[in-house]
Amino acid sequence: MKFTAKSGALTGKPDGIAVALFDDEIKAPKLTGLDKRTVAAVSRLIAASRFEGKVKETVVHFSEGAQAPVLILQGLGTRKDFSWKHLRQASGAIARASNSNSVKNLALFSTTSFDDDLNAEITARAIVDGVVLGSWSFEHYRPKKKSASQLGQVDVYFNSTARQKSASAVMHSAQIMAECHNMAREYGTHPANVVTTDYLRDEAKKLSKLGIKVTIIERDQLRRMGCNLILAVGGASVMPPRIIIMDWNPRGAQKTFAFVGKGLVFDSGGLNIKVAMMEEMKSDMCGAAAVLAAMDGVGKLKPKHRVIGAIGAAENAIGPSAYRPSDIYTAYNGKTVEIGNTDAEGRLVLADTLSYVADKYKPNLMVDIATLTGAAKVALGSHADAVFANKDRVGRQVLAAAERAFEQMWPLPMFEEYAEEVKGDTAMLKNSVGHRWGGACTAAAFLKEFVGDTPWSHIDIAPTSFPAATSSLNPKMTASGSATKTLLELSLRG
Ligand code: BES
Ligand code: MN
Ligand code: ZN
Repeated sequence: MKFTAKSGALTGKPDGIAVALFDDEIKAPKLTGLDKRTVAAVSRLIAASRFEGKVKETVVHFSEGAQAPVLILQGLGTRKDFSWKHLRQASGAIARASNSNSVKNLALFSTTSFDDDLNAEITARAIVDGVVLGSWSFEHYRPKKKSASQLGQVDVYFNSTARQKSASAVMHSAQIMAECHNMAREYGTHPANVVTTDYLRDEAKKLSKLGIKVTIIERDQLRRMGCNLILAVGGASVMPPRIIIMDWNPRGAQKTFAFVGKGLVFDSGGLNIKVAMMEEMKSDMCGAAAVLAAMDGVGKLKPKHRVIGAIGAAENAIGPSAYRPSDIYTAYNGKTVEIGNTDAEGRLVLADTLSYVADKYKPNLMVDIATLTGAAKVALGSHADAVFANKDRVGRQVLAAAERAFEQMWPLPMFEEYAEEVKGDTAMLKNSVGHRWGGACTAAAFLKEFVGDTPWSHIDIAPTSFPAATSSLNPKMTASGSATKTLLELSLRG
């Protein structure tokens, strides 16, 4: 797929023309770039289909005459409610309509320069993001659908050459970011018999082509290093647990960012076996998926900072060598942890990985991404992820990056009372507090014990990582790719 920003009159020979309209302009759409015949066809289509311009309204019309392009009308909703959110949703819908009608070469028009606060850059990035995400579907295990994306060229028309120029400058990076986002969805949607801990290792190794140094810390070395928590979690699986390190270290780098992903390729719960929705736990490596995909983007967009991607990879399985409730293990940083519940495994894997990364790379900012708690999903539903931070400034930094990345995130607290709750009865800490209340916060408080003074933020992506319902940009029962672009935004701008 290739995006081009254009302005003025339609050029080229698109086989699809999409027109995006606010609800207040359907009576007399001013479509300056389109010829009289097409504008008349648009008006006829608005009338015939009783099109109202609502956000979720898409109308497709086959051409009058075999050679004429498919016409797609897309609503943008009410102007005063307009934001990048509606523009992305509209762009995703246009992509889906284009793909299901086999459009290869699309021209996208709107009558307006959108809101004043939605400048040309944001407009362009939202459109590219919506089109690339909207074109994605997961097709690996069945014959290719006819509607699988065929879009090759997408021309987006802006209504001044100045806006065209600003748009043009950001489209390339927006496309790379959106493609990374889709990559994370692929990783999260493949089942655990495919995405094994070996698979994660092999995908990471592919990044060395992009100038990223990849180091794998295997079981023996984890033992020598004292990473006993990840070893305990991965103990019952035939898949070896490992820590995967990806290092982008450009000459002259002044800052180091570290991104740490929870890579539970499957979470059965362990001896505290899950009683519900275990099948969704193939997506318990979505944090790792975001880190892998973001590192791919780092290799392509080449930020000037050093960026460390780290994955704690393991399977939480059941067997004679499974770890048990009541076991006590010593973590990489020397803290002892009593196991209250083997299903609270993510925080254990992250504890070793975070403390090792903080110790070894001394990052200026460390962010972990994890499908950590059902409690975060109870709090926020599937519409926003939870952000924690050990410094207010860091929390704001992550939320600002999320906003630029078109991702909905919201802060939750790290009050000291939560830290009290994770103190152990027979060891220094315990991995489960014995009740459900504030489960996202107590999990975050546990992680905080392993980051020392490193400026750190924890993003619990359990809410959005694997949505049960189809939304405008995500088919149901596929991974959503959450947080990938937020990490990329952080790596590029800090
Ligand atoms: N991977 C799960 C959290 C999860 C649940 C992610 C639902 C996505 C959707 C995590 O390992 C887990 O099992 N957490 C427990 C913690 C509890 C045992 C303290 C939970 O949230 O119930
Ligand atoms: Mn679990
Ligand atoms: Zn888990």
